[in-house]
Amino acid sequence: MTLSTFSFPTTTLFGAGALSELPKRLRGLGLARPLVVTDPGLIHTEAFSLLEQSLGKDRRGTDWMIFSSVHPNPIEQDVVKGAEAYRASKCDSIIAFGGGSALDAGKAIRLLLKRPELRLAEFDWRDDWYGLIPCVAIPTTAGTGSEVGRSSVIVLEKTQKKSVIFHPGLLANLVLLDPELTKGLPPKLTAATGADALTHAIESFTSPVFHPLCEGIALEGIHIVVEALPRAYRDGNDLDARGKMLIAAAMGAVAFQKDLGATHSLAHPLSTVCGMHHGLANALCLPAVMKFNAERKPGLYQRVGIACGLDVMRASPKDADEATMSFVSEFLVKLGIRPGLRNYDVTEQHIELMAPQAFADACHQTNPIPVTESDLRQLYYEAL
Ligand SMILES: [Fe+2]
Repeated sequence: MTLSTFSFPTTTLFGAGALSELPKRLRGLGLARPLVVTDPGLIHTEAFSLLEQSLGKDRRGTDWMIFSSVHPNPIEQDVVKGAEAYRASKCDSIIAFGGGSALDAGKAIRLLLKRPELRLAEFDWRDDWYGLIPCVAIPTTAGTGSEVGRSSVIVLEKTQKKSVIFHPGLLANLVLLDPELTKGLPPKLTAATGADALTHAIESFTSPVFHPLCEGIALEGIHIVVEALPRAYRDGNDLDARGKMLIAAAMGAVAFQKDLGATHSLAHPLSTVCGMHHGLANALCLPAVMKFNAERKPGLYQRVGIACGLDVMRASPKDADEATMSFVSEFLVKLGIRPGLRNYDVTEQHIELMAPQAFADACHQTNPIPVTESDLRQLYYEAL
């Protein structure tokens, strides 16, 4: 019998106003001089003002520094410069604050603080990466779930490609989920990031990796997204919906300890080649991948349908899949996501460039149906 490891170690503080607990929590962890890692777009937001209020704007309370040069798709230099800023300011911890990019960069900076000579292209997950400096992760979007993830996606200097740096030691020590911080997200971004969370839950649930705990989390995550995302999309100030989406995003990311599927392999080149938002790319590819999988494995989406609130318990496997796929497609359209890659300036030439990259991406290795490069090309055309 193969042995499995199940681990859910991140301490998470959830609720409106959770951010105000930050100074107390830092003191509890023995941390006195954190480096806030974020991106330049966040500095002028309401979310950042709330962070300043919590940490003390005059900086006489908690002594904190800031590094705000993280790119939208973080590059290795962000990590290098962040580590330099940390050393120069003699900090003792990191607060990763923002969307997936800031969280990924904040988590990864700690690798260079342990091994300053490291080039990320030479990162080896088999080395000892435990004992990194403490990190508090605070998301300002509800989608990637990077705050509870064990990896950082960074564009490497050597290859100029996105690479997943994975090690359990990268986990944050503390996560604050405060819906006050996501109130300012515009509807379009709310929809796209929420679609990412939904895709994480659906793909991880249907991945063949054995992890029943994550499957339960994925199904509840789907249930929460279906209920809360339309509300957060319609009314950004709906704190209950915002909070539920933060929870669902974290659940989606916890669930993808089971790994993901072909949708994410299709989505990654859409971001690197066409500059598309990751969540939007998933939303546009998910229906085609679900159809491909369901045709080859009828009933695959029956329990996803039940989690969506559909009455498909007694339906035939084929009918249950069809009802679920229709529901998911319509759900995305109602969030203002117009289907069709062509509507976002993706062309046949892009597809020819992206298909080999999608095949080189590891996510499809846990698709419920194995896919070839030709299948992935076909799926792009299906989604076009
Ligand atoms: Fe994703």
